[in-house]
Amino acid sequence: MRHRLLAGLPSPHPIGLATHLELHGPSPLLGRGGGDALIAELEAAGLRGCGGAGFPAAAKWRAVAGRRRPVIVVNAAEGEPMSAKDRVLMTQVPHLVLDGALLAAQALGARDCVIAAPAGVHAPIRSALRERRAAARPAVRIKVEASPHGYVGGEESALLSHLEGRAPLPRLKPPFPAERGLNGRPTLVQNAETLAHVALIARHGAAWFRDGGSGGIPGTALVSISGAVRAPGVYEIPAGTPLPDVLDIAGGRLQQVRALLVGGYFGGWVGGAGEGLSFDDASLQSAGVSAGAGVLVALGAADCPVAETAALTAWLADESAGQCGPCVYGLGALADLLGRIAGGRTERGDGARLTRWTEMVRGRGACRHPDGVARMISTAGRVFATELSEHARRGPCAACGRARLLLTPRAREAATA
Ligand SMILES: Cc1cc2nc3c(=O)[nH]c(=O)nc-3n(C[C@H](O)[C@H](O)[C@H](O)COP(=O)(O)O)c2cc1C
Ligand code: SF4
Repeated sequence: MRHRLLAGLPSPHPIGLATHLELHGPSPLLGRGGGDALIAELEAAGLRGCGGAGFPAAAKWRAVAGRRRPVIVVNAAEGEPMSAKDRVLMTQVPHLVLDGALLAAQALGARDCVIAAPAGVHAPIRSALRERRAAARPAVRIKVEASPHGYVGGEESALLSHLEGRAPLPRLKPPFPAERGLNGRPTLVQNAETLAHVALIARHGAAWFRDGGSGGIPGTALVSISGAVRAPGVYEIPAGTPLPDVLDIAGGRLQQVRALLVGGYFGGWVGGAGEGLSFDDASLQSAGVSAGAGVLVALGAADCPVAETAALTAWLADESAGQCGPCVYGLGALADLLGRIAGGRTERGDGARLTRWTEMVRGRGACRHPDGVARMISTAGRVFATELSEHARRGPCAACGRARLLLTPRAREAATA
């Protein structure tokens, strides 16, 4: 299948406005009733949020439509350490995301739009905005703001708090951003990739979008692939691609693959190279995972899944925003427990304790951070049952001493310094 979002790439420079228009044609102007028609098209396309939760885009737009003084917020925070798709979009094809944001503004009658992205990607966005302003007088005020640091900072309500000048802490919902969002105004928070898809659906329609995808996840998806593959990177794949084939798209396996982390740190583990599974909702759900933000990490046979899971849990526990007891204490306790198991310092009943405590944190936070961690641990418990009990009995294995595969942002910076 030809690239859609990544059409024109690789390119030594960000795709400028002229090339963008050559590649995709002009963005349609929504006339009277055009907003409703676009929302209906998004619904027919089955477009779902690409920021992690997979919520239907049309339902979100409808929740904002008709409200007074709405705001559009582009979420390009990309707090997920193994994800790079939003960075690729914002730095390489910023006009596609801008088209999507402007279409959302037209459809919902918004005059204000905020793009929240790491400071490192502001230059190409600002340059794309300058090109637009030189070409036509913009009808929408677009501000570019730095997204908060940290994993939880990309959660929509935490992001809104940060944009209001407060600490990036998730808020209890309801009210949802559609009712009361940025500075109390109705707000559509949408991931950068979701808006890039909107730009193309508005041009080519729902049937074009669905073509090539699977029933559960239509169209194409951006996937950040890393770990034991020859060519890690961000790829655009047709939804429904078998997981082992996705690894081939990233140059093939470097070594035998022991497991895949699907969806990101918020996702879950599946065994082997995901044989029998495909990048599709129903298929992934059958293995207890979801596409999340489109991350796929291949854990090689030489990596230790127990040490990786323990280190990841410790990092995720540290990333708690620190305002809900079960998240702060529950994730901390799970991290300690997994650390003990990885180190072979187990006590009687630790296996049962791991299962019980994992269940206890689910649904117990103001945001879904604890749910994501619980899913990652419970899939690890299933996929790495043998390795966990081996570590519990015998202590660290030979692979435990290797450098960690699942990098935290700090470890990644140190590795690339
Ligand atoms: C802990 C946590 C972190 C999140 N981080 C991000 C993020 O970095 N980027 C993002 O787009 N969505 C992130 N989300 C999801 C957002 O809350 C929200 O669902 C999303 O921005 C909506 O856009 P979408 O419907 O287009 O996916 C996160 C959610 C949680 C619970
Ligand atoms: S669940 Fe955790 S991360 Fe989410 S708001 Fe509560 S303390 Fe913060």
